[in-house]
Amino acid sequence: MNIFVTGATGYIGRAVAEALRRRGHRVAGLTRSTAKAKLLASAEIEPVLGDMRDPSAWKKSDVLIHCAVEYGTDYEALDRKAVGALLALGGKVLYTSGVWQYGSGGPFDESSAGKPLMPWRSEHEKLVLAAKGLVICPGCVYGGTGGLTGLWFQGAVDHKAAPIVGEGANRWAVVHVSDLADLYVRAAESALSGELLNAVDGSRFTVREMAEAASRAAGAGGAVEALPFADAEKRYGGMAHGLALDQNVDASKAGRILGWAPRFKGFPPDAELYFAAWRAFR
Ligand SMILES: NC(=O)c1ccc[n+]([C@@H]2O[C@H](COP(=O)([O-])OP(=O)(O)OC[C@H]3O[C@@H](n4cnc5c(N)ncnc54)[C@H](OP(=O)(O)O)[C@@H]3O)[C@@H](O)[C@H]2O)c1
Repeated sequence: MNIFVTGATGYIGRAVAEALRRRGHRVAGLTRSTAKAKLLASAEIEPVLGDMRDPSAWKKSDVLIHCAVEYGTDYEALDRKAVGALLALGGKVLYTSGVWQYGSGGPFDESSAGKPLMPWRSEHEKLVLAAKGLVICPGCVYGGTGGLTGLWFQGAVDHKAAPIVGEGANRWAVVHVSDLADLYVRAAESALSGELLNAVDGSRFTVREMAEAASRAAGAGGAVEALPFADAEKRYGGMAHGLALDQNVDASKAGRILGWAPRFKGFPPDAELYFAAWRAFR
């Protein structure tokens, strides 16, 4: 298949694009940067230089996967523009949302309404589902070069403590980046349409347990910095609401209909490897 991936140089998009290429598909990946275009080419991914602000050069493909994100004042508008442009191209669209859309509580499955952290994102999900596309809702992603888990490593390296919001008794829904990429591959290759799929590994470590593991791996002896919510909001802005969530999310639907079975069972067991990967990338 011909596949186009926005955000192909990002944490999730890169793993997805590379996994699809390993399956033998022709993959094109969007980037704004000529330097990153070379990295894509080196991974056998055709670079498409461009920006979500001007999707006019994006080409029709069998599958179009949206993983690009620009946090900031244009976050919602750019996402809406990209979704509209991808849907207009006419292939099967896979949209990346997230389990933060459920809010705190659970167990949540794909039929749960929840309390979306970003109500506008639910509208974008609906557009994709109405066009018979697929919506993937990853938990907080760990592994490889790291996403949110990088906050713990950075804090442990710079300040000898991994920062958490509150006391860390809350639990995040999480997924390893390789398992997540495997789900995108299965979804892209399937005949499935108009479905939302959660992507979490079912591990139930508390945030404190995960942050302590990150801190130990980074040489800070398991020390954590428990931030009161107001301080976390000053440091992280709106993202603090996501970091403070306490979630229980079910992803058995992806197992039932796509045979997806996460191989990785949570962040702490291999925290040293994740720290080494994070440090090597920087
Ligand atoms: N990371 C997680 O734990 C997690 C969990 C659940 C859901 N999600 C969702 O997954 C999506 C991807 O997240 P991520 O962590 O992979 O993001 P990321 O690592 O920050 O990657 C962002 C990507 O977007 C591209 N990009 C940024 N601004 C752009 C623009 N104006 N035009 C075109 N491309 C642009 C960047 O490409 P260039 O710089 O090369 O242009 C980069 O490839 C987001 O929607 C996020 O909310 C993430």
